[in-house]
Amino acid sequence: MDGQQLSQRGAWGSKVAFIFAATGSAIGLGNIWRFPTMVSQNGGAVFVLIYILAVALIGFTVMLAELTLGRHAQKNPVGAFEYIKPHTPWKLIGYLGILTGIFILSFYAVVAGWALGYFFKTASGIFKGKVTPEMSNQIFTEFSSDPIQVFLFFAIIMGLTIFIISKGVKKGIEKWTKILMPMLFILIVFLAVRALTLPGAGQGITFYLKPDFSKLNVAVVLFALGQAFFSLSLGMGTMITYGSYISKSDNLVSSAGWVSFSDTLIALLAGLIIFPTLAFSGQAGSVGGDALAFKVFPLIFSEMQGGQIFGTLFFALLCVAAITSTISLLEVPVAYLVDERNWSRNKAALLAGFITFLIGIPAALSTGGMEFFTKINFLGLFAIIFGNISLAVGALFICIFIAYIWGVKKAVKEIHSGNPRFNLRPLWAFSVKFLSPAAIIIILITLIKKIITG
Ligand code: PHE
Repeated sequence: MDGQQLSQRGAWGSKVAFIFAATGSAIGLGNIWRFPTMVSQNGGAVFVLIYILAVALIGFTVMLAELTLGRHAQKNPVGAFEYIKPHTPWKLIGYLGILTGIFILSFYAVVAGWALGYFFKTASGIFKGKVTPEMSNQIFTEFSSDPIQVFLFFAIIMGLTIFIISKGVKKGIEKWTKILMPMLFILIVFLAVRALTLPGAGQGITFYLKPDFSKLNVAVVLFALGQAFFSLSLGMGTMITYGSYISKSDNLVSSAGWVSFSDTLIALLAGLIIFPTLAFSGQAGSVGGDALAFKVFPLIFSEMQGGQIFGTLFFALLCVAAITSTISLLEVPVAYLVDERNWSRNKAALLAGFITFLIGIPAALSTGGMEFFTKINFLGLFAIIFGNISLAVGALFICIFIAYIWGVKKAVKEIHSGNPRFNLRPLWAFSVKFLSPAAIIIILITLIKKIITG
């Protein structure tokens, strides 16, 4: 039955195909746009340090947990919980994941639209010649406060996402990632080298890599952990869904390790571009707001031979990286509608995509398009609530479910298929049972207390 079920639901062509797809989901705006923004707003290097710890100790644990659950159940998040514990409220975690995915996609696609807009701007030569920080900021403000442009690109991104998802997992997702993700990596390394050799880069490096522990507080820890979940696509069932298409002979541990490692590498490299460039342009590490990356990248392109070409290529690849993530966000509700409600993929993709677009309207209007949404920074707020807190809550319940409801023993049995030795077993078991849930609970409680007491 398994084989038949797999072929109806679609499956990855090979282990490599899965790795590319999962890496494609993980790597995206989270690494290049959101990570540097978070570093800049949360004390610099201290954030980076906590972030790395969060990925290694908790992110990897949750990633392996999600892949294992998904491959075992071979279902979407709702179906997976229902498969293991039928007729219990546990499937609510699946529903939370679906909602979170739709809400994340609603603002994520807006920012992906910015990247698309910047692709055209850079190609048209707007950043040619000397670009000052003032010019770059003004170009962003003019662009982001023009609803027509923002909506146009937002709609294009959603349209592409719907189109690819309706074509199905294998044909849709695999194709994009194979050549273009490695290209993005090479270009980012190249840009980092250029940034590091700019005059004054050292100050940026200090902000980015030399921790100032007086800046450490509970918000920094929460944001670092939430950002780890966001960047690794965890806590809402993406990796449960992607795991459900993995073959029984694949090694889940090395897959989880590879995805976590490469995602973190790209984020760290993005910081090595942003902060030296920022210092070079005479700005402090903590300026730039939610659009930091969009204001800083043009500065480095204007400092390079052939900057117009590299810049255009960069924004094109950033769009691809973003789309391999938007499709993984939309795939969660679509897999649910197809598996559990027997909808056709086309209908599911269209409806879920359209609803997401409607939910995204306030975010699209929150960078100058409409005063009310701009004032409350709707996009930033959504990013924290859904892209951070909601994912942490989801990850907490996924750990509890695996450790205490399904049971580590059964999970390990699933992991053994494809990795009979599983040397990391004691460490993983400790983290999924105690360390990860405890860390998430402590952080969330401390945060709630802080909010209540002001
Ligand atoms: N990980 C993606 C990124 O960094 C965003 C994402 C979050 C995708 C959650 C899927 C699920 O861009």
